Amino acid sequence: MKKHTIRLHPLGKELQVNDQTPLIDVLHEFGIEFPCGGKGTCGKCKVRLLDGEIEISDVHKQKIKQLGLAYDWRLSCFSFVTNDITLEIEQFNHLILADESDFDFKPQEGFGIAVDLGTTTIVAQLIDLSSAKVLAVETMLNPQVKFGADLISRIQASLDGHSNEMTGIIRSSIGVMINLMLKKHEVPLHKVVLVGNTVMQLIFSNCDVSPLSYYPFHTNNLGLKSFTAEELGWNFQVMENVQFYPSIGSFVGSDILAGIAATGLHCQDNYTALIDLGTNGEIVIGNKNHIVCASTAAGPAFEGGCISMGMRAVTGAISSLNLIDGKIEASVIGNTTAKGICGSALIDAVAILRKLDLIGMFGEINSGEQQIQIAWKVNLSQKDINEFQLAKAAIAAGLTILAKNLAIELSDIEKIYIAGGFGNYINIENVVETGMIELPAEKIHKMGNTALIGAKIFLFSDIKLTGEILEITRHINLEGDPNFQDIYVDKMLFQ
Ligand code: FES
Repeated sequence: MKKHTIRLHPLGKELQVNDQTPLIDVLHEFGIEFPCGGKGTCGKCKVRLLDGEIEISDVHKQKIKQLGLAYDWRLSCFSFVTNDITLEIEQFNHLILADESDFDFKPQEGFGIAVDLGTTTIVAQLIDLSSAKVLAVETMLNPQVKFGADLISRIQASLDGHSNEMTGIIRSSIGVMINLMLKKHEVPLHKVVLVGNTVMQLIFSNCDVSPLSYYPFHTNNLGLKSFTAEELGWNFQVMENVQFYPSIGSFVGSDILAGIAATGLHCQDNYTALIDLGTNGEIVIGNKNHIVCASTAAGPAFEGGCISMGMRAVTGAISSLNLIDGKIEASVIGNTTAKGICGSALIDAVAILRKLDLIGMFGEINSGEQQIQIAWKVNLSQKDINEFQLAKAAIAAGLTILAKNLAIELSDIEKIYIAGGFGNYINIENVVETGMIELPAEKIHKMGNTALIGAKIFLFSDIKLTGEILEITRHINLEGDPNFQDIYVDKMLFQ
């Protein structure tokens, strides 16, 4: 029988299915819910077709029209797979971390928009600058995912001639998000501030990313980028120029600069650290005199990407595991049958399996089997455990090397903030148990979306704040440390 490939973003999953397979059967496995039972009335099962074709019947067309969906959306309950397709899943959008935290600000006239442009997700908020109140929020998956889930594939797509297309879709998508907020609140827009990693900034700004594709993977084009709304093809007015904030280094962007502003670590006497556990894992350590930062390759395992039964935190995902009377108890999102495991539970699983002495210090399954059952029909394989070790070692080695660069001990760090969507759901005790962060749990705090908080702070501050942070910040290439390999291998062990 003819087979087709389905790519699911931002899961990074690729599956082969038979011709004419109902999409509802496939997506069900990934925790997607079908509230109206597939009648086509709720629209909750909608998917955006990023690539390929889904044949559309007259009834399907009519349902899409009734629900007021744009041309590239399909109802998965009415769709069959007849081609290779790439889909963005609407229900995953609800998991994007917006933020309503308080922060210090000086009231101003007017309204502004803060945008956190991530590799996987985008969050934008409309802010009343007189009160810092969030008037509206829009979130979406980054439509560039059709060119690949990670930064390397985006750079490759740019080299393959898709640079203008990626710039076009990201500018227009953010324009659509802002338009939606302005429709709800008809207010004059004074400022728009964007933050994001270096690759996102360069692609948004239509700049060359090719220097990041070859040794020494370095670009000098890190500065602030400014545009008029017209230059971006936006059909609304912004009184001041739209500003995409400067990057710190080739793989540490203005999202981390914003994170520094959000944590206020640049104002502290004592050392503070920030770890952003997103698609990439960035680490910062510093105080009011010196800040060092680096990027690590820690993301995919925590997002479920390279874990055999890994999935995002949607219905059916095990979100946490606890050891109760010697037995592993799983909490499943939606209180349903477990279909897979998300990043927070992956950390729990490894910590518990270590406590039960089911895996050894090298990560080996002590029984010699190739997998361990952690819940009904959900297993953790030997390869999954090794993937986790690579990710946790990247963070632990990054912290060690950055501390070494500041000539301090890890124990000199007074507080560690964990940022990012996934960081919000982890069990800190288990993070410590696995050795990912080799500091006591009391020093570790979750802080939500620090990139977005920082972008809002930038709406109220002048660019001088950025200059002051950048002046004391050094970007470190972790792999350039002569002991990197030894430290990394050492951190893979469970002590
Ligand atoms: S399940 Fe309601 S529209 Fe598809």
